[in-house]
Amino acid sequence: MSETSASEATLNEPYGLRGLDLPNRAVLAPMTRISAHGDGRATERMRDYYRSFAEGGFGLLVTEGIYPDAAHSQGYLDQPGLATSAHVDSWLPVTAAVHEHGGSIIAQLMHAGPQGQGNPHVSGLRSASAVRARGEQAGMYRGSGPYEVPEALNAEEIGEVISSFAAAAVRARDAGFDGVEIHGANGYLVDAFLTDYLNERTDGYGGSPMARTRLAREIIEAVRAAVGNDFVVGIRISQGKVSDATHRWSEGVAEAETVFGALAGTSVDYLHTTEWKANAPAFPDEDARSLSQLAREFAPGLSIVANGHLDTGAEAAESLGAGGADLVAIGKAALAQHDWPQRVQQGRQLLDPLTPSAFGSLATIQDWELRASEPVPTS
Ligand SMILES: Cc1cc2nc3c(=O)[nH]c(=O)nc-3n(C[C@H](O)[C@H](O)[C@H](O)COP(=O)(O)O)c2cc1C
Repeated sequence: MSETSASEATLNEPYGLRGLDLPNRAVLAPMTRISAHGDGRATERMRDYYRSFAEGGFGLLVTEGIYPDAAHSQGYLDQPGLATSAHVDSWLPVTAAVHEHGGSIIAQLMHAGPQGQGNPHVSGLRSASAVRARGEQAGMYRGSGPYEVPEALNAEEIGEVISSFAAAAVRARDAGFDGVEIHGANGYLVDAFLTDYLNERTDGYGGSPMARTRLAREIIEAVRAAVGNDFVVGIRISQGKVSDATHRWSEGVAEAETVFGALAGTSVDYLHTTEWKANAPAFPDEDARSLSQLAREFAPGLSIVANGHLDTGAEAAESLGAGGADLVAIGKAALAQHDWPQRVQQGRQLLDPLTPSAFGSLATIQDWELRASEPVPTS
């Protein structure tokens, strides 16, 4: 692939996100790597990994999903945490390394909910309702077989989850992060509350699409109250899930209006929409608008980050233009080349993004890092 579109200039324009002056619109998408210490502390390897994306021109990095508490939130063995002061200390070199290279870095806070498959703290999963996630556990994160059936969180436990996100956000700030992203996508806890078939609650957290947004809204407001106004707070939203990749919201555009409108009424700074293809229609039976376009329309005051196969400068430019996005998050194409923004900017050759079939084993995740460090021909 080669990159020559004139509209790529947009990718290189600076952007203000609350207090952050981002040098360009390229964001590293959050990607789990299971390369932390067993107790959840970040490693030197993680420091070097994140630094390489800042060196490669990403103005903003979103980390892999980080568990916020030492209860039910951890989803994978060797996943990093922000649940203890030891975790805070371990992240300091990571955030410093990114800042040294002019990047900003946001911690993605993730409660695994019904998709947990490795937690050394406690046994058992917690979710909106006692409904098993579909599909099978992810092999690349050392899982196998069906997910466990979770227990439904009671009202007191919901309060504890909300508090744990707020406490982890404060720890993220102490660890030098520039903000937090609440993982409200991909089938994990917050998304389980948003999802009709995973949320059978009859209290104020379930029933209508609006009620299903309540947990997300309460986490955002608790986080904002804890960190104050000088810190970025975002949320990631999807239709598909790790356990159900092709799921679509049953009420279509009307549900998007409810979800994005509800989030627009909070103190969140940005909505990060993720789809298989960011520029494709979100509800093809209704109209041609993508999820990021719907987010732009129904949450006009918020910054919009789009993600999903924005592999080339041209695809990113389309998302930043007609797609309604302010920022574009790059995942598998960034794994293939940590300097994706520089290559696009300079019109250099891009390697193909890693394909889903390469997701077979842990070894391939590590292979991607090796591949990214190979010398690359210029075109
Ligand atoms: C190895 C891997 C790990 C991922 N881990 C996370 C994660 O921790 N949090 C998250 O929100 N998304 C995660 N994702 C999804 C990506 O952020 C992104 O949405 C997906 O790869 C699609 O974007 P792309 O087409 O640019 O790769 C992961 C994806 C990959 C490939």
